Amino acid sequence: MVQRHGVALNVVMLGPPGAGKGTQAERFAQRHRLPKISTGDILREAVQEDTGLGRIAKATMDAGNLVGDEVMIGIVSGRLTRDDAKSGFVLDGFPRTVVQAGALDQMMTGRGPLVVVDIVVPEDVLVRRLAARRICGECGSNALVEWTTNCGKCGGVLVQRTDDGDGIVRERLKVYHLQTKPLVDYYSGRPTFRTIDGNQPPDIVTASLDRAICGASTLADGARL
Ligand code: AP5
Repeated sequence: MVQRHGVALNVVMLGPPGAGKGTQAERFAQRHRLPKISTGDILREAVQEDTGLGRIAKATMDAGNLVGDEVMIGIVSGRLTRDDAKSGFVLDGFPRTVVQAGALDQMMTGRGPLVVVDIVVPEDVLVRRLAARRICGECGSNALVEWTTNCGKCGGVLVQRTDDGDGIVRERLKVYHLQTKPLVDYYSGRPTFRTIDGNQPPDIVTASLDRAICGASTLADGARL
């Protein structure tokens, strides 16, 4: 586990759809006992439960577009005030626009530095991964290779994610390039920004991420960034 000396470990996972943000955020969060905050998961739960938020988000998500900044900033700022996020968090899927990144910087006042990791994967690999992905229709977990028809956690039937169809994936990638990739420029001048090769087996990516985040957080701790 990263030695934190009382400094919060605040991590942002950046990367295109299918880069492995969710997979790696879950592993890192478990290993370092931090809450994983996935805005995609929060929205999908809201859609499944047919809440007001779910009704606002569904058509936007199904079209591969981004839900409005104001809504997303409200969700994350509320979530970060909960006790479990006081000593750090792993954000998966937020920020996704420069406006969201500016709002996150404001939320970070007095909370310690952000370590930002950009997971890089070639586009043809992303398209293949998303076409092959299956999730549990009940609990939403990404299916592991050894689960053939049903979820290994809750027994639910495995299904394709509604936004993983070919045309929608192309739209999500387009939206990523237009709205989210500019965040690489937004963060890349910071000493706590790291790039990771995500086109490797998941365990290798996990190890690289761990090293990169540990290095960046130690630097931030030493320099009191
Ligand atoms: P979200 O759920 O965040 O989707 P995404 O960013 O498109 O990311 P994915 O979940 O598709 O991919 P991932 O990078 O997490 O990869 P994963 O680990 O799952 O958002 C969905 C929608 O919600 C958005 O389109 C938008 O509408 C809305 N939304 C969410 N946040 C928002 C925000 N802040 N603002 C506005 N709107 C927002 O892996 C993918 C697959 O690859 C899996 O099958 C996995 O098993 C496999 N895999 C992972 N790593 C590897 C590896 N190393 N090798 C081989 N396979 C791998």
